[in-house]
Amino acid sequence: MSTANRVNKSKVTTHVLQEMKLKGEKIAMLTAYDFSMAKILDQANIDVILVGDSASNVMAGHKTTLPITLNDMIYHAASVMRAVSRPLVVVDLPFGTYQGNSKEALSSAIRIMKESGANAVKMEGGHEILESITRIISAGIPVMGHLGLTPQSIHKFGTYVVRATVEEEANQLREDAKILEQAGCFALILEKIPAVLAHEVTASLKIPTIGIGAGSGVDGQVLVLHDMLGITQEFSPRFLRRYHNLKEEILGAVATYINDVKTMDFPNEREQY
Ligand code: KIV
Repeated sequence: MSTANRVNKSKVTTHVLQEMKLKGEKIAMLTAYDFSMAKILDQANIDVILVGDSASNVMAGHKTTLPITLNDMIYHAASVMRAVSRPLVVVDLPFGTYQGNSKEALSSAIRIMKESGANAVKMEGGHEILESITRIISAGIPVMGHLGLTPQSIHKFGTYVVRATVEEEANQLREDAKILEQAGCFALILEKIPAVLAHEVTASLKIPTIGIGAGSGVDGQVLVLHDMLGITQEFSPRFLRRYHNLKEEILGAVATYINDVKTMDFPNEREQY
């Protein structure tokens, strides 16, 4: 039995993540958008699944995360929820469903929780979305914050380069991290910021931080599943470690299948009725 399969199967909650930070146990988080992948991640004992709005790129083929809708996110989240028992499942509130108005933000979060059965929502931004975050947390819905590179603001940034490299932006991030903790966020994603800053912010907070391109001084790591498995290969930032080359394996399997069909090797006598 692998190490992962020996880990205990009790449900990961926001409190468990808090305890993991206190114990210095790192949090492992990956994205999933569908039943089959989520079932494998559950079996592997992943701590947290993010139903990320990266589904907009990975599943739907859009160039950015902006087009994905609330209905799309609920569909993906409900599919994931049917597969898992152990991990905490966090769902991205998509672009345009929480920035403008805190009442609309709450109704978006409520739809996700009611219609998918997920455990928490994630929202990109700091002080500028504080009212929405506060209203959602007041309704009893756990919120994960997301600072640094926030892909929903790509048209404001203009590029996906490392964020908070200049002092003014780093100071704003430090301040926003405190604001989100005080508002009651249970954890914080830190995306593509200098490792030194991520470490400093992590040490200054009681809630866990989960990094993506933020170095090792954070409380956990997250990657997009399709990127780390090598299914998607167009995207190769420095922080992305590829654990497999699944695209090549799939290409090989499909090529063999095509050949077997064309040469009438498949199906054979044992594969028919
Ligand atoms: O949508 C997503 O996959 C994310 C992660 C990159 C953190 O937000």
